[in-house]
Amino acid sequence: MGPRVKAFFDPDTFTVSYVVSEPEGPASAIIDSVLDFDPASARSSTRSADALIAYVREESLSVEWILETHLHADHMTAARHLEQELGGRSGIGARITEVQETFKALFNLGPEFAADGSDFDRLFADGETFRIGAMEARVLATPGHTPACVTYLVGDAAFVGDTIFMPDYGSARTDFPGGDAATLYRSIRKLFALPPETRMFLCHDYKAPGRDHFAWETTVGEQREKNVHLHEGIGEAAFVSLREARDRSLRMPALILPSVQVNLRAGRFPPPEGNGTAYLKIPLNAL
Ligand SMILES: [Fe+2]
Repeated sequence: MGPRVKAFFDPDTFTVSYVVSEPEGPASAIIDSVLDFDPASARSSTRSADALIAYVREESLSVEWILETHLHADHMTAARHLEQELGGRSGIGARITEVQETFKALFNLGPEFAADGSDFDRLFADGETFRIGAMEARVLATPGHTPACVTYLVGDAAFVGDTIFMPDYGSARTDFPGGDAATLYRSIRKLFALPPETRMFLCHDYKAPGRDHFAWETTVGEQREKNVHLHEGIGEAAFVSLREARDRSLRMPALILPSVQVNLRAGRFPPPEGNGTAYLKIPLNAL
């Protein structure tokens, strides 16, 4: 029997968070949580995360892991709030250190920010396995959208982060620092090598032309057959030129500057200044 998967959709950032748990046991992991953030007032709220916490408590689950598929640029992680309320250890792909270095330079962070991954409890290398109760989870490095992107494979469920989206929508952008369309192509081919019946759970959905509802679950087989950017038979060069053309048309996500500064610290805010308030930086003409 495959793991139980409960999805939570945030309509403000189009993000899907998941609780994956043993088919009949309490052990669980949370993947890609959301801390709500209003950019006009710079005020955060735990409304989305609290819905997830309520589910965990109703189902009497025990949270062993609070995982990120990558460093998100469009929403803040609620990992700190979840850890305080539910426990669990934080985990992310091992190449997060490269992403931390990039943004440490952009935000001109001082020596108080280590950029060595130590903000997270566990850094996962490609192919590494770990346990969620009786279930074995496997980490597949799936870079391209960012260098540190990983997929978590738990039984027949693959949490693919920002690699591929619904078959009618396509794939994730590759124009963030360290992103690369050819690398994303190879990562998606790696996902396509999984058994076709593997359930695929996506990190985002934006609807698609002709579809009026949000969707975030598909299968490897369906993607191979129908994905509009990368179905079976589309070669690397064709994908790269399509992906790069589309990336040139995209604006930066509204929350990239605030989100990245919080997410690279595993969800902690920067240390407060002398007056007790924490501040984020806005680099001018730098992104
Ligand atoms: Fe992303």
